[in-house]
Amino acid sequence: MAKSLRMFNFLNMKVGALYEVIITSIDDRGRPHAAPMGVRIVGDSAFLMKSYGETRTLSNLKALGRGVLNVVDEVEPFFYCIFEQSKLSFDWSTELPVLRGAVAWSPFNLLEASKKGDYYEVSCSITSVHVKRGKPKPLCRAESSLLESLIHYTRLRYYEDLGLKEEVSKLKSLILQHLDIVERTGWPRLKSLAKKLKKKLH
Ligand SMILES: Cc1cc2nc3c(=O)[nH]c(=O)nc-3n(C[C@H](O)[C@H](O)[C@H](O)COP(=O)(O)O)c2cc1C
Repeated sequence: MAKSLRMFNFLNMKVGALYEVIITSIDDRGRPHAAPMGVRIVGDSAFLMKSYGETRTLSNLKALGRGVLNVVDEVEPFFYCIFEQSKLSFDWSTELPVLRGAVAWSPFNLLEASKKGDYYEVSCSITSVHVKRGKPKPLCRAESSLLESLIHYTRLRYYEDLGLKEEVSKLKSLILQHLDIVERTGWPRLKSLAKKLKKKLH
C-alpha cells in the first residue's frame, strides 16, 4: 500500500487526463455494484466524475460516502459491467468491494456531488493506492484516438493521389473526431501532439 502526496503517480495516472475505470460501491442492501466511469485527475489525490443522472453508483456513494476506483487494463470488464454482471466477482478483504481482475485499486471518499445542467459533478478523493501487479496501465481513450488519427492521416495522401475527394473528406472528419477525443481526454503532452496533427490537415 502506498500513501504519498502524489498518490495518482502510483496508479500511473496523469493530472488533467480522463481515465476509464470501474467504480465499485455498495448498495442499500449491502450488495456490491460495479459501473464503468470516466474519472478526471485534478490533483494529487482528487478526481472528478460526471454522473449522467442519478446513477446507482451516485446514490450508493451518497449513502455510504465511499467507494473504490478499480484500474483495469483490459476492455472485457467494461463489457461485463454493462451486459454480463454475473461474470464479475469481488474481493471483500477490506470493508469495500474490490473488483477481482483489477490491476490496482484505490478506496475513495465522496467529497461533493453537485448538479450541473444534465449531469452531476462528483468530486472525490482517494485515500490510498494498492497495486496488485506490475506498473498499472490505466485506459485512456486519448491514446487509442491519437493512434487512430495517425493511421487515418497516413491514408490521406493515398486517397488524395487517387483523386477520391469523398474518401478524403470522410477521413478528415474521422481524424477530427478522434482529435476531439484526444482534446477532451488526454494529458497535456498528448493534446499538444493532437494540435500538431490538426495543423497538418490544412
Ligand atoms: C467505458 C465507459 C465509461 C462510462 N463513463 C460514464 C461516466 O463517466 N458517467 C456516467 O454517468 N456513465 C458512464 N458510463 C455509463 C455507465 O457505466 C452505465 O450507464 C451504468 O450502467 C450507469 O451506472 P449505474 O449502474 O451506477 O447506474 C460509462 C460506460 C462505459 C462503458
